[in-house]
Amino acid sequence: MSTKTELLRMLDQNFGGWVSGEALANSLGISRAAVNKASNSLKKAGYKILSRPSQGYKLLERIDLMTEEAIGSRITDPCRLKVFDSIGSTNSYAKALPIGEEPVVIVANEQTEGRGRLGRTFVSPKGTGLYISIAFRPEFELGKTPYITMATALAVCHAIDSVCGKQPKIKWVNDLFLNGKKICGILTEAQTNLETGRIDSLVIGIGINCYPAKFPKELKDIAGSIADEQDEFSRSALAGAVIQNIFDMLKEFPNHNFLPEYRRRCFILGKNITVHQLSGGKPIKARALDVDDSGGLVVEYMEGFRLREIETLTTGEVSVRE
Ligand code: BTN
Repeated sequence: MSTKTELLRMLDQNFGGWVSGEALANSLGISRAAVNKASNSLKKAGYKILSRPSQGYKLLERIDLMTEEAIGSRITDPCRLKVFDSIGSTNSYAKALPIGEEPVVIVANEQTEGRGRLGRTFVSPKGTGLYISIAFRPEFELGKTPYITMATALAVCHAIDSVCGKQPKIKWVNDLFLNGKKICGILTEAQTNLETGRIDSLVIGIGINCYPAKFPKELKDIAGSIADEQDEFSRSALAGAVIQNIFDMLKEFPNHNFLPEYRRRCFILGKNITVHQLSGGKPIKARALDVDDSGGLVVEYMEGFRLREIETLTTGEVSVRE
């Protein structure tokens, strides 16, 4: 992490108070002159930092710039973080990069070619959302990836709880909902090596609608946002919390301890749903019964020749019927 990022992190941790140049220099392991230089360069980049020879340094505004410093200052694990104002797709960009020991994290303020599940487009307007991809070399085999997506959904819920004070619910497999509308989607993509059967890199893509945005007509009743007002919370703080929570989750992985909480957050359980078949067949009415230990959705069909049949869905799309 760069000196500027470290400095910003320390000032943000002491938000509203003064931190002496000496304390900063000691913790960062640099000279007081170097602290001053880093602070000046942060000021030039738009950060509101007050400096007084007798008192030291003070951050006057919480950090909400979508910059590497602002987001990186909230992440404690090592990673290669890159922030774009605009990009085609953070997942596509991350997939094209060589992945070494450290995970690569790509964050964007806008996506012009955002991609969703099942080949759909993910509308990603500028300034109102967060578009994040985390790419890494997993130790586990391909079969575990559904769990990763589910555990990611929970990690994002926790970040939204702590930064925004809202408690989203999950629609199996990995959509986050608030007040009946979708606020987040997750797309996990793997690059596999056919010779070794191992995953060369896994890219977890997270798209979050933070503030209200102009969505196309067909999404108006479906897409919501975390907050009702622009800038109600800090997007960089949320990005940092999402990324750090996912890193923490990956350290524990694979373990299935997240499943009981996942079930509690999964608002479709016990509800009448429609199962949309990936084969393109007619949607079938069903009831969502449970999420089993392998992460599958247990459903009971409510119509047609499969009436009363119980099946565990491992992938696909469901929607809730009123
Ligand atoms: C879905 O709801 O269908 C999944 C949406 C995933 C969107 C995210 S935004 C960041 C990353 N980059 C993409 O192009 N897609 C994912």
